[in-house]
Amino acid sequence: MNRLATTFTGLKFHNPFVLASAPPTESKRKIMRAFEAGWGGVVTKTIGLHPVENVAGPRTIFQRASEEKPYVSRNKRPETVSHSSWNWELISDQPLELWLPDLEEIKTTYPDRMLIGSIMAGAGNEEEMNNWRKLAIACVNVGCDAIELNLSCPHMDRKDMGANIANDEDIIRSILKAVTSAVSVPIWVKLTPSTSTLVDAAAAAYGAGASSISLCNTFPSLPLMDPETFKFEVEVDGLVTSGGLGGLAILHQALQRVSDIARAFPDKEISGIGGIRGFREAFNFIAHGAGNLQVCTAAMEEKGSGGVGVKLIQELKHDLNDYLERKGYSSIEDFRGIARERIVEHSQVRRKSDAYNGGYEIAS
Ligand SMILES: Cc1cc2nc3c(=O)[nH]c(=O)nc-3n(C[C@H](O)[C@H](O)[C@H](O)COP(=O)(O)O)c2cc1C
Repeated sequence: MNRLATTFTGLKFHNPFVLASAPPTESKRKIMRAFEAGWGGVVTKTIGLHPVENVAGPRTIFQRASEEKPYVSRNKRPETVSHSSWNWELISDQPLELWLPDLEEIKTTYPDRMLIGSIMAGAGNEEEMNNWRKLAIACVNVGCDAIELNLSCPHMDRKDMGANIANDEDIIRSILKAVTSAVSVPIWVKLTPSTSTLVDAAAAAYGAGASSISLCNTFPSLPLMDPETFKFEVEVDGLVTSGGLGGLAILHQALQRVSDIARAFPDKEISGIGGIRGFREAFNFIAHGAGNLQVCTAAMEEKGSGGVGVKLIQELKHDLNDYLERKGYSSIEDFRGIARERIVEHSQVRRKSDAYNGGYEIAS
């Protein structure tokens, strides 16, 4: 019996662990290696139709913290532990025409693994809606099992793309309308955590036919400046811009976003992302309601695996299986959402006296 097997958005996964859209899924070679290693699925690096040119410097840095003088830095120091990734990488610079034969070969080689095509276009006019349709149809025609809409890239200057459209429910609906009318596979929608209207955005997406919300993309953030040299941890010609923080540092915030969505839409599906390095983080996402788990930074950081987390997926599968067996659970469904009812309003948590009413006077 494969206790790790899950059905998520109607798709059968060998295990719930999926490589997130990012460098680990940027090429056929890496995706093949990931499937060989045992990942249940991959979300491809986001594919688009618009010009992409990355900065003339490193696209990603990995920051570490130490116990002694516990500052966070990419600088190599002994006895440090991973803190976060910071990146300002754009979406894939490989054109759609080159992706398509690769995707077809991947799916033919691994027909039982889930291949999710991540796509991104603009908004606000019919031409952009056609771009979404074109990308979705092309990916599905070569075998993608689902499509993930990237409505969350934090590095776009274009106001009609990525995280910049996260607050616009009409745009979210229009993109879903375009894509759901063009293809019939499940549509996952990847939202940005950096909006105060996340629940409204999710409502718009689910209402317009999204099968799942993927949360979280990276958190918009700045790299640190060194007090001695005045250099940023990463910069080009002394300049930097807002990039995305990922890895362990965003775990708690990602969980809170997933919890918000899971409590607002208890019957809907969520793919949890943000800081997963092992079983304990994965457990927490499932406990809040996620039925699928995506990993990026921890896979990139693993040495000797070509950045696809070969050891990591073996550990994740082993540790989850071990847990399910010990608890007598037949699948993650037996404990999915167990934390949900225990997240309450502040005033619902017991006080030492009854004299607190959420900051309001108690009516006499
Ligand atoms: C270098 C890098 C590139 C990324 N590129 C994409 C992308 O093209 N599309 C996307 O939806 N998310 C992208 N992401 C975000 C990841 O898929 C993921 O949501 C984020 O890193 C949080 O997961 P983690 O904490 O496991 O890293 C990228 C992340 C990194 C670090």
